[in-house]
Amino acid sequence: MIMSNFKNDMPKHLAIIMDGNGRWAEKKGKNRIQGHSHGVKAVQEVVEEAVQLKIEHLTLYAFSTENWSRPQEEIGVLMKLLVSTLKSEFEKLLKNRIKLNVIGNLHQLPKIVQKELHYVVEKTQNNNEMTLTLALSYGGREELANALKQLAIKVKNNIISPEKIDQFIINKHLYTQNLPDVDLLIRTSGEKRISNFLLWQIAYAELYFTKVLWPDFTKKHLHKALTNYQKRERRFGKTSKQLLG
Ligand code: FPP
Repeated sequence: MIMSNFKNDMPKHLAIIMDGNGRWAEKKGKNRIQGHSHGVKAVQEVVEEAVQLKIEHLTLYAFSTENWSRPQEEIGVLMKLLVSTLKSEFEKLLKNRIKLNVIGNLHQLPKIVQKELHYVVEKTQNNNEMTLTLALSYGGREELANALKQLAIKVKNNIISPEKIDQFIINKHLYTQNLPDVDLLIRTSGEKRISNFLLWQIAYAELYFTKVLWPDFTKKHLHKALTNYQKRERRFGKTSKQLLG
């Protein structure tokens, strides 16, 4: 029943801040590592459901620039989980025609992670059912600083004149240059923060916060977020009357 409502107003670009793995583990008397492993299960369910629902772009915040300050052991486990998940899900990405994309300061990632990402990105580059973007070693401010640096170099080398710089040109220098703006941003675990995620790209996004911890997040919770999204009036600065007209 819910599905038929979904057809028209599906967000083109859904982004998720997957938060609460640690608290989930604590609540269950498990260690944080087990929280992350269960987080992977939620990733699998949400990716599969997003394809079914024909969401064109799904972007997941998997590791922030700030996450590098976590204990070394936890970082190591997250990196291992990433590699093992890429390997185990590879066939499914091909079967479902999902294109993998990665954004962030990827050079900071361990070589083995870079290699695996590179392989899967390349092998899935012609898939067109959905783009799954993983934000890894990602920070929104760093992304913007990086774009401005590239533009400054182009100005210095007379490739572009400063008067020509506008929001479209800045957009073309972001990691997300090939992605549309975010329509819906979901954050789990009850925190109501953006945490340096896609700062530029969420300018007109609808924000949805849920108390559900990420490892408990299922397709049922995704449906709830989407139903909520569809009830919202997105005015983009216009009046309701103008939208009706
Ligand atoms: C936030 O929970 C979650 C992360 C920092 C990592 C997210 C990673 C995964 C879900 C697994 C790997 C991902 C992929 C794409 C295979 P937290 O640790 O900050 O939880 P807490 O705030 O309760 O401590």
